[in-house]
Amino acid sequence: MEVQDVRDDLEEILYTREQIQQKIAELAAEIDRDYADKDVLIVGVLKGAVMVMADLARALKSHVTMDWMAVSSYGSGTKSSGVVRILKDLDADLMNRHVLIVEDIIDSGLTLSWLKANLESRGPASLEICTLLRKPEAAKVDIDVKYVGMDIPNKFVVGYGLDFSEKYRNLDCIGILAPHVYS
Ligand code: PRP
Repeated sequence: MEVQDVRDDLEEILYTREQIQQKIAELAAEIDRDYADKDVLIVGVLKGAVMVMADLARALKSHVTMDWMAVSSYGSGTKSSGVVRILKDLDADLMNRHVLIVEDIIDSGLTLSWLKANLESRGPASLEICTLLRKPEAAKVDIDVKYVGMDIPNKFVVGYGLDFSEKYRNLDCIGILAPHVYS
């Protein structure tokens, strides 16, 4: 799906398909350099990270193992409650592995904060985070994120894996959703 297919639903295009790919290439180069002598397991957090995982993995020049986790906020119904439950756990044992969590976006940071502590307890040799997008103004907790694609304003963004009501994930760019769509 391209921007012309949902033109009226977007207030602004933040990043085009080309800009996203450029940023992913830069992140991949950093990761290739940092893990040059190590085997890395990249962990995608479903569902939003599917596009980033697919493009990042292909941009890397070294072998990687890929695994997936699905998590959901528990109880309150707001996605940033910070109380998370695992809907699908990893297949891989993390003991002594070099693990890189891959996310589409860090909003409040509560999901990643929980996930990092959970995966840390499984005994990885190292554990880092790569996110394509981060909203500094929305942060509720401090998390150490080694690889950040872009810092963005605290707006409702969709596309490239990010959804509103499960729609727009397959949009090839990232845009700010127009208020008339969700209000
Ligand atoms: C999004 C995103 C992160 C989380 C970030 O997932 O992929 O996992 O929210 O929010 P936080 O920093 O405030 O915790 P979401 O819960 O929307 O699920 P999805 O990936 O299936 O869209």
